[in-house]
Amino acid sequence: MTNNSQIRIAPSILSADFSKLGDEVRAIDSAGADYIHVDVMDGHFVPNITMGPNVVAAIRPHTKKVMDVHLMIAPADLYLEAFAKAGADIITIHPEAGPHLHRSLQMIKALGKKAGVALNPATPVDEIDHVMELVDLILVMTVNPGFGGQAYIPLEDKISQIRTRINKTGRAIDLEVDGGINDETAKKVIKAGANVLVAGTAVFKDGPQKYAENIKALRGAE
Ligand code: DX5
Ligand code: ZN
Repeated sequence: MTNNSQIRIAPSILSADFSKLGDEVRAIDSAGADYIHVDVMDGHFVPNITMGPNVVAAIRPHTKKVMDVHLMIAPADLYLEAFAKAGADIITIHPEAGPHLHRSLQMIKALGKKAGVALNPATPVDEIDHVMELVDLILVMTVNPGFGGQAYIPLEDKISQIRTRINKTGRAIDLEVDGGINDETAKKVIKAGANVLVAGTAVFKDGPQKYAENIKALRGAE
């Protein structure tokens, strides 16, 4: 169980109004977002196309918050430098996106960025066994990646197993959960040991005047 004061909320701008992304990022920043979660999709690794490094660079001046870039692209290595230069603070990759996860993580670290590994619902926890010393964040997908607004897949056991492995390292590795997070599912993943919650639909619902309330509700879930 994670102490609620330590919970960080990472609104996914996939659910924002793309016609005014700068305004949307400023709105979630002032509404209390901790990280700005950017879902990058290539129409190949996942069946949807979203945004690339130019969009990260465009929104970067609108916030000082941590830019949390989730790459759902394959290959990822070719684009790591572009996302680093665009202003990403954390770059997260999927093990299935390339043949050499360890090397990809080394590349992210060499660019001076925090490195994350994202595990799809069917991807075993063991994938992270031999890269723990390189990771700053482990992202547990609780939907199959590609779209916002999907139903949460209950993977609390997996989250707990990863929390145990993180605690054994003694390092402050983030345990982030992404997909179908709302006031109800937030309680479950926090109980299982998550400390960073990605939420698209649940944050952006009902327009900018509700963002602060929506974020607070996720953070306050016990
Ligand atoms: C899915 C993305 C998620 C998604 C979350 O591939 O990685 O970040 O946008 O959206 P909600 O919160 O609507 O499930
Ligand atoms: Zn994501």
